[in-house]
Amino acid sequence: MRNRYAFVGGNSGRWRIASLRPVRGEVLPHVRCVDVVPVDAMQSGRPAGWVLTGQISNVRYAKRAELTVLGAKQEALGRPRASRAALIPIKKSPEWWDLAQDERREIFEEQSRHTAIGLEYLPGVARQLYHCRDLGEPFDFLTWFEYAPEHADAFEHLVDRLRSTKEWAFVEREVDIRLELAV
Ligand code: HEM
Repeated sequence: MRNRYAFVGGNSGRWRIASLRPVRGEVLPHVRCVDVVPVDAMQSGRPAGWVLTGQISNVRYAKRAELTVLGAKQEALGRPRASRAALIPIKKSPEWWDLAQDERREIFEEQSRHTAIGLEYLPGVARQLYHCRDLGEPFDFLTWFEYAPEHADAFEHLVDRLRSTKEWAFVEREVDIRLELAV
């Protein structure tokens, strides 16, 4: 199964960068485009400003009832009208990783309502979470979202709401990259 992907920042690619800015911590170098490529299809020696790798993994916190609602509401990536995307790499603090699983779930959902808030923005926004903490990468997660231009304002609202939650107090590095389909 293809579950590991490289996000290649460089001079060419399917997605053109509209903005790249630091939210917290060190930013990434500015490049023009991002390509999302299965790692096993990566051309060796391809010039890139940066390459971030992540893999699709099992869920950690979502409960059965949440998965059922998500499954009913969310749409897949690659919709023709979804010409906007966001790549938001995130690293959480050692304090977060020192918590037990049940303590993290408590902050993630019972206190921060991450899934409940996110669900309000489906199906306009399509999403995919990539894990990279165990791959020796600079971030713990690569979060990827696709939406049509008419959902851009709603997406800003969603991001603002999540960043004001208790969960985000544990975010120590975050870069916000907004993209538009280049081809
Ligand atoms: C579009 C609506 C969204 C929905 C429905 C949603 C839903 C979820 C769910 C269900 C999980 C938990 C997966 C699991 O159980 O392991 C999750 C994880 C995560 N989401 Fe979202 N999310 C949304 C938007 C966002 C946005 C806009 C961001 C970033 C700004 C974000 C960042 C993350 C991160 C970093 C994780 C991993 C948290 C961790 O494991 O510590 N999400 N999301």
